[in-house]
Amino acid sequence: MNSPPFRSPPTLLDHLLGAADEALRTLAGAVTAARPTPASDRSVPVSASDRRHAAGLMRVNHTGEICAQALYSGQALVARDERVRAALVAAGAEERDHLAWCRDRLEELGDRPSYLGPFWYAGSFAFGVASGLAGDRWSLGFLAETEAQVERHLDGHLERLPEGDARSRAILEQMRADENRHGQAGRVLGGAELPLPVKMAMRAFSRVMTRTAYRI
Ligand SMILES: [Fe+2]
Ligand SMILES: [Fe+2]
Repeated sequence: MNSPPFRSPPTLLDHLLGAADEALRTLAGAVTAARPTPASDRSVPVSASDRRHAAGLMRVNHTGEICAQALYSGQALVARDERVRAALVAAGAEERDHLAWCRDRLEELGDRPSYLGPFWYAGSFAFGVASGLAGDRWSLGFLAETEAQVERHLDGHLERLPEGDARSRAILEQMRADENRHGQAGRVLGGAELPLPVKMAMRAFSRVMTRTAYRI
């Protein structure tokens, strides 16, 4: 009788290599979405200034998704509970769809991602590791707060998108629904409410990111 192949549990080195692989794929743009891009109409706004504005907003969202990959990767690296790690990995897979959708849309709009991706990745990865090291409850609370802030940010972008950009709008609407689910998962798994100064620091970080990524 054949016995099933023995598989040893992943070591810290396996997780570190996984995190390095994730970083390279994210920054090289070597990411494919598991789900098709919401909305099949690829048309772009007619006026050049509307196209430029939509591209600026989508560059911000693409950079936000680079940050999301880094955060989840950093948190998963040091998560203690396997259920928490599994939730982070599952949410990270959906963030990969967001990343690919935003990148493709930027290309359709005739524009490029932010030059500062590696910088934002490194900062967000450090935030992710720090919140993970603080313990799973804080890590989950950090996740829930991040997603809540992203949802509010997406509401703002949905208002600012040019009328003629139905595809970007559909992408952001699907992202908002996914982020809402990620945030709920964080709360259901026992995420703690973060102290106000931490929430404010997170808001300041994302404000700098959104302002610079619109142009650079
Ligand atoms: Fe996302
Ligand atoms: Fe998310």
